[in-house]
Amino acid sequence: MSEVKSSKAGRDAIEHASQDELRSVQLERLKWSLNHAYEHVPHYKKAFDAAGVHPGDLKQLSDIVRFPFTSKQDLRDNYPFRMFAVPREQVVRIHASSGTTGKPTVVGYTMNDIDNWSDLVARSIWAAGGRPGDMVQVAYGYGLFTGGLGAHYGAERLGCSVIPMSGGQTEKQVQLICDFEPKIIMVTPSYFCNILEEMKRQGVDPLKSSLRIGIFGAEPWTGQMRRDIEARSGIDAVDIYGLSEVMGPGVAMECVESKDGPVVWEDHFLPEIINPLTGESVADGEAGELVFTSLTREAMPVIRYRTHDLTRLLPPTSRSMRRIDKITGRSDDMLIVRGVNLFPTQIEELVLKVPELAAQYQLVLTRSGNLDELEIVAEVRPEHDQLTAAGFEALGEKLRASIKTYVGISTRVTVRGAGQIERTLTGKARRVIDKRAKV
Ligand code: DLL
Repeated sequence: MSEVKSSKAGRDAIEHASQDELRSVQLERLKWSLNHAYEHVPHYKKAFDAAGVHPGDLKQLSDIVRFPFTSKQDLRDNYPFRMFAVPREQVVRIHASSGTTGKPTVVGYTMNDIDNWSDLVARSIWAAGGRPGDMVQVAYGYGLFTGGLGAHYGAERLGCSVIPMSGGQTEKQVQLICDFEPKIIMVTPSYFCNILEEMKRQGVDPLKSSLRIGIFGAEPWTGQMRRDIEARSGIDAVDIYGLSEVMGPGVAMECVESKDGPVVWEDHFLPEIINPLTGESVADGEAGELVFTSLTREAMPVIRYRTHDLTRLLPPTSRSMRRIDKITGRSDDMLIVRGVNLFPTQIEELVLKVPELAAQYQLVLTRSGNLDELEIVAEVRPEHDQLTAAGFEALGEKLRASIKTYVGISTRVTVRGAGQIERTLTGKARRVIDKRAKV
């Protein structure tokens, strides 16, 4: 495999390479990765053979479309370790994504994989504006979830001082921000909103805190949410993307100077967009499902892994590599309400356009007879908690009308007092409560 040298922790020459150079690194690595998967993972041998393709058939990058997809189900079917391409003894770390049902998805890393991951997260923090010597509070959960340890190793690799706070203990998060004065926080955007509320509660002005950069990911969040967080806290809010099956955080990272969507670290991952219904590739710029092939992973290569995340591939700007647009949602999170396709992020944008409403909301689905009903539960910001019942109702009506206008569906909107919507303590917000099965 070719070596792409790091010039300095967090900055790699390849980030500014020419397209020819980048594509040639990708091709060489892709050939290696396909061979590695085929030779060492029985699942891939079987799947390639069944599709009538061999790693040797790949002559150019676009030949990737001849290879079969890998799904989460394939990973589950090979639970726990049968997707590993190296002897188990060479796997130095195991993570797992919880999933709501059934067995978790297991991911393994060799020492080299951990090394590459640390480099990519260091590169990501650099792209966010972090520099060696900066203090970083990691408020992603530590443990089987890749967020905490992934962020931690990357921040250390860049030469930062790391506060391994993990998720939860919101009061303590605020105390450490005040006392240790970190410049950077790495956390889910929804949990950062909880931290901002807690600051307010403790009488701490977020605009005066030491924080300058928020590296937010692990869940979908909108441009409207970015504007809201930046206005309330005075930080730069940038988007980090990743998924455990493909590595963890740091598969793609937005650059602070352009804030125009996460740059895919294409020297390690080959992205594709496909039509989720037909599986056919679509052109750059067109929306569809994101698919990744790992180019350097040793312990667990993934070939054409279907993420279910919906986005588009965009041309390079701040780096030589392509970007992804903000993730609209996962194809499995898409709700169909009386025939209209709906993502929670669409509701988020409209909630945040009502200045009195907080960045907390839930979509509650019920069924009455054959008809799906959608209730939006929103919450006022603390400074509007004293509104009268009529005031709450008027806010609900405002949101209901804008959903009707912009999304085209009728909903019931309930506006609650500040702090009334249940907070998840360790990260990913629960935006959808589907009660339809139980009704
Ligand atoms: O969430 C890894 C991660 C940790 C990424 C910390 C960023 C920061 P999983 O638990 O496997 O891994 O969940 C992956 O989360 O397929 C997306 O649906 C969603 N997701 C992750 N980052 C973003 C993002 C981690 N920036 C799944 N925007 C992915 C939107 C995201 N969705």
